[in-house]
Amino acid sequence: MHLLAAAQDEPAKPIAANDHIQIALIGAGGQGQGDTKVAAQVPGVKVVAVADCYNGCLDHSKELWGNDILATRDYNEILARKDIDAVIIGTPDHWHMQASTDAMNAGKDVYCEKPMIHVYSDGRKIIETARKTNRIIQIGSQRVSSVIYQKAKELLAAGAIGKLNMVTAWYDRNSALGAWEYTVPPDASTETCDWPRWLGTAPKIPFNAEHFFQWRKWKAYGSGVAGDLFVHLFSGVHFVTGSHGPSRAMATAALRFWKDGRDVPDVMLGLYDYPQGFNLSVRTNFVNGGSESEGFVFTGSEGTMTIGGDGVSLTRVPREKEPGVRYNLFSEAIQKRMLEDYREKYPRTHPTGVTLLGEEKYVAPDDYSDSYDHMKNFIDAVRTRRPVVEDAVFGFRAAGTALLSNVSYERGAVVGWDPENMKLL
Ligand SMILES: NC(=O)c1ccc[n+]([C@@H]2O[C@H](COP(=O)([O-])OP(=O)(O)OC[C@H]3O[C@@H](n4cnc5c(N)ncnc54)[C@H](O)[C@@H]3O)[C@@H](O)[C@H]2O)c1
Repeated sequence: MHLLAAAQDEPAKPIAANDHIQIALIGAGGQGQGDTKVAAQVPGVKVVAVADCYNGCLDHSKELWGNDILATRDYNEILARKDIDAVIIGTPDHWHMQASTDAMNAGKDVYCEKPMIHVYSDGRKIIETARKTNRIIQIGSQRVSSVIYQKAKELLAAGAIGKLNMVTAWYDRNSALGAWEYTVPPDASTETCDWPRWLGTAPKIPFNAEHFFQWRKWKAYGSGVAGDLFVHLFSGVHFVTGSHGPSRAMATAALRFWKDGRDVPDVMLGLYDYPQGFNLSVRTNFVNGGSESEGFVFTGSEGTMTIGGDGVSLTRVPREKEPGVRYNLFSEAIQKRMLEDYREKYPRTHPTGVTLLGEEKYVAPDDYSDSYDHMKNFIDAVRTRRPVVEDAVFGFRAAGTALLSNVSYERGAVVGWDPENMKLL
């Protein structure tokens, strides 16, 4: 039996575990298809409709989920259907706010891809709509559901590296696809692509297949490496540390290599002050001359914790309690006296020696998928009405922080941010 989506003003009711949930996809490109394939693996989920602006994606959706799904260019046809409980939104960023709020206003729960916002005003609209309609909204930074991040969070909270003072995070790429040079299909035209609908509120320009299929390269639709990649890093840092965001940000950036008509940088570095007492640096380099990599180093008073690849590793050193002694600048007689005095007070074999407590590594299981756990967390919330791991407030704080990098780069200035109230200062 399928489930009826609650009307807008109905109180949200839990859905029994043996009822199935009917979902639809809005924006059936790379990530939307990926998310929906994952959702279809969650027991009790059925994909019943897809909306997209390119015929090729609609046709492929039927190949994936059957000829009987509703496939349409107009997502309002999906929102009008009472038998659809939830939607996955995989559109480019400039549609996230409109599609999410339209869906919640139509009574649907929403899984919306990251970054939650394209411009700052999107944040409050999404948060307020979620509150007003009592809908579940999960933002799609899947790593926050990862067992690896959960382990890192637990280790940090247990004091494994002492007091956190610095985080370094990076997301580097070194390939054409990594730099968003996505392949334009051979039949791309105004016949196969609904260009006016795709543009939405973006500036009206004649059909441009590169803009349609490689939209991350222009800020009218995306928000550069900050919105695309930094947001994953901020989601991770906020999840692991429990912090809501920085109070100040500054960034520098440049277009160094991919001078292909894009209006966003391919190299960006940012620095952020967190009121919890740590500083953060992030970077993305699309011309890194090496392998593609993504990771974090959390530095604390008693060691470091690294997230990268398939796990978390921990290197711990005991913090020196003694002050250290500098004695070899002086006469030998004084040196001897100083060392003896020091040893008497701090009886150790070497005055500056530290002992490595050892390295520990926590590795995720071979077939582990954080995308599955993140989608499962959403589907469970749709059933139980319990909160998701990454709600609209979390999503705004992560994306709002990421976009500070663009604001700072464009202004050439340090930017203030109120992380509690999610406001530019
Ligand atoms: N969580 C992740 O790891 C991850 C990875 C990749 C992309 N993403 C996010 O997913 C989103 C989509 O990225 P992508 O790479 O899949 O882009 P894409 O271009 O491959 O797909 C976007 C699709 O949305 C469709 N679309 C545009 N406007 C629409 C509208 N009004 N109604 C219906 N369909 C519409 C387009 O026709 C296109 O097929 C982005 O926000 C991106 O940041 C997240």
